[in-house]
Amino acid sequence: MLTLTSLLFLLFLYSCPSNGAQNALVSVPDFGANPTKLQMSIYVPTKLAASPAIILALHGCSGAGAGYYQQTKYASLADTNGFIVIFPSSPHDNNCWDVASTKTLTHEGGGDSNGLANMLRYTIQKYNADPKKIFVTGTSSGGMMTNVMAATYPDLIAAGSGYSGVAAGCLAGSPGSSPTTADPTCVDGKVHKSSEEWKQVVKDMYSAWNGSYPKMQVWHGTADTFVNYPNLVEEIKEWEGVFGVSFKGNQTGVPQSGYTQMVFGDGDKLVAYSAAGVGHTVPVHEAVDLKWFGIT
Ligand SMILES: *[C@@H]1O[C@H](CO)[C@@H](O)[C@H](O)[C@H]1NC(C)=O
Ligand SMILES: *[C@@H]1O[C@H](CO)[C@@H](O)[C@H](O)[C@H]1NC(C)=O
Repeated sequence: MLTLTSLLFLLFLYSCPSNGAQNALVSVPDFGANPTKLQMSIYVPTKLAASPAIILALHGCSGAGAGYYQQTKYASLADTNGFIVIFPSSPHDNNCWDVASTKTLTHEGGGDSNGLANMLRYTIQKYNADPKKIFVTGTSSGGMMTNVMAATYPDLIAAGSGYSGVAAGCLAGSPGSSPTTADPTCVDGKVHKSSEEWKQVVKDMYSAWNGSYPKMQVWHGTADTFVNYPNLVEEIKEWEGVFGVSFKGNQTGVPQSGYTQMVFGDGDKLVAYSAAGVGHTVPVHEAVDLKWFGIT
């Protein structure tokens, strides 16, 4: 029988993050215009850096911000490095991010990307964050949304790191963005475009923008049959087109055995990681992300 003491102990365990973070995740009910009713949670370390960086960390389908907070090390790394992490949740379409509608694929279009941008704006203002240190990362659906955020909000975001996702615009026009609602052509790896075509897809999401785009790092497992591996090539072509860079060389065993780091141009705008034999999804490499973002 469950005694009161053991019940309290279980509650205590449940409320303690397993990710080693000092503080709890805090819900932010009102962050401004929220056209698609997303949920915002934020991790603010006790020792916040002056003019801190912000990482927007996006869960996969059927996930939630609280789960991504638990499963990743971003929060405990925020304790040591003084940055803020936003862990939002998508409450719709099997808890996937909308990466398909015209609204979300348009700058200030009133879709999910717009709500996420408003979370960033709110956080920049409230915590006096450095507007040049705003980063986005995510896994699977969150990796897809990482590409979409980079394409729709190049004015806000400085760098992205997307795990096991697809190119921004790959699902354009699909009736949904989840395994049960999406047109499967994209995740099956059957949407192929040239670099020039992908570049136009990105430019069309914010046609008035004439500035630079966030530097991008993309990850994919060769054994991924859920969001098929050929999607890595399409992501690469997309950002090669945007940045005007091309393949320079491979570094095998980077960042670890079994992985290959593909470098494009001089490697400061675009790198890709191919993980041999890894399925869906590539484990999050927080330390590599922080380096890419220039936080460490
Ligand atoms: C870029 O856009 C800004 C703002 O719309 C404009 O003032 C500037 O002239 C544009 N620059 C170029 C090179 O087109
Ligand atoms: C670079 O690495 C990728 C992933 O392992 C591989 O597909 C590609 O053929 C390699 N390219 C060269 C030129 O070695």
